[in-house]
Amino acid sequence: MAEAPDLKRGRFLVPGGAGFIGSNFVRMIRKRFPDSRVTVLDKLTYAGNLANLESLSGDPGYRFIKGDICDAKAVTAAMEGCDLVVNFAAETHVDRSIEKAHEFVLTDTFGVYVLLEEARRAGVRRFLQVSTDEVYGEILGEAANEESPLLARNPYAASKIGGERLAYSYFATYGVPTIVTRGSNNYGPFQHPEKLIPLFVTNALQELPMPVYGTGKNTRDWIHVDDHCAAMLAILAAKDVEGETFNIGAGNEKSVLEITALILDRLKKPQSLIRHVTDRPGHDRRYAIDMSKLAKRTGFQPSVAFERGIAATIDWYVENRSWWESVRSGEYRHYYERMYGAR
Ligand code: NAD
Ligand code: TYD
Repeated sequence: MAEAPDLKRGRFLVPGGAGFIGSNFVRMIRKRFPDSRVTVLDKLTYAGNLANLESLSGDPGYRFIKGDICDAKAVTAAMEGCDLVVNFAAETHVDRSIEKAHEFVLTDTFGVYVLLEEARRAGVRRFLQVSTDEVYGEILGEAANEESPLLARNPYAASKIGGERLAYSYFATYGVPTIVTRGSNNYGPFQHPEKLIPLFVTNALQELPMPVYGTGKNTRDWIHVDDHCAAMLAILAAKDVEGETFNIGAGNEKSVLEITALILDRLKKPQSLIRHVTDRPGHDRRYAIDMSKLAKRTGFQPSVAFERGIAATIDWYVENRSWWESVRSGEYRHYYERMYGAR
């Protein structure tokens, strides 16, 4: 097995770096490793937003390329001179995948194949495929470990399985040094307001109803985006992790109703904003992952306590109203009307 790469001087390619987690990751790399270089390749779909990377404008260690990971030519050009690939590019919203899965299959599966082919040709040092705990499907018993069966139940999660298994197959078949991470639900700044926490915070700030699907008893394991990104860096810096898969979670299992109550409390808004609406089809009741492998192999432990992280996140949306008002205009209005108008 190869030695761990020197991240300090890493030449990173970050597909999907203009989205929520990717932009937080890119900022973290540039802050921690001033001698690194980062290329972001992003299609700028409705979810990609250059405002997320605004704080890096003028940084000589950062460059942005607009392009699609399904386009081999764009990928070849972007990967030139890069030795570490961390792929965030994906269609990510379950409700949109239920409406139409086409783009999910293309980007989350085929796009990963295009990146892997180029990584194989270019001979990169490491290729981290960012996957999700949703690949396990709903977990009603013991928390899933990395050996648990992949029983995805929605088109987003199924497409992510395609991407991560292709990454593993490139390791097993061609020796491409791939790693797969399965992160739990992230929260933090710059998250698109289609997802639960920013949707509910920004709705509450506008006195709009908070649409709880079904009973609201469904749970997720919430991790702050900084912890997720720091865990990925710990894995990239570890020895002998090629071909391995790591769960990344923080052990904060909360229901939708618990999250809703925290938001209402912090914003001092009334309970009457809660609106129970028709459930999501095939709504996974619970995700829960065992993170012991990550701790054992890298020593990593999450450091953002949930109460502190969620309070800081709510405050961020309060303080960055122009960011989310801009995201919530345009395409978002049509999406919102389709998704919630008659629900
Ligand atoms: P996001 O939707 O905020 O961002 C996705 C980014 O990918 C956007 O910038 C978009 O423009 C870009 N993109 C989409 N299709 C592309 C294509 N064909 N070519 C190039 N760029 C493209 O997503 P996120 O929440 O930041 O998630 C990032 C990654 O982490 C995804 O792979 C997702 O599956 C995974 N993940 C997310 C979570 C979560 O809670 N958000 C949890 C675990 C894993
Ligand atoms: P979401 O942020 O879409 O993430 P996931 O990919 O885990 O489904 O949803 C998180 C939880 O919040 C999930 O149980 C569905 C629920 N939810 C609502 O109740 N109402 C909403 O409007 C949204 C977007 C999500």
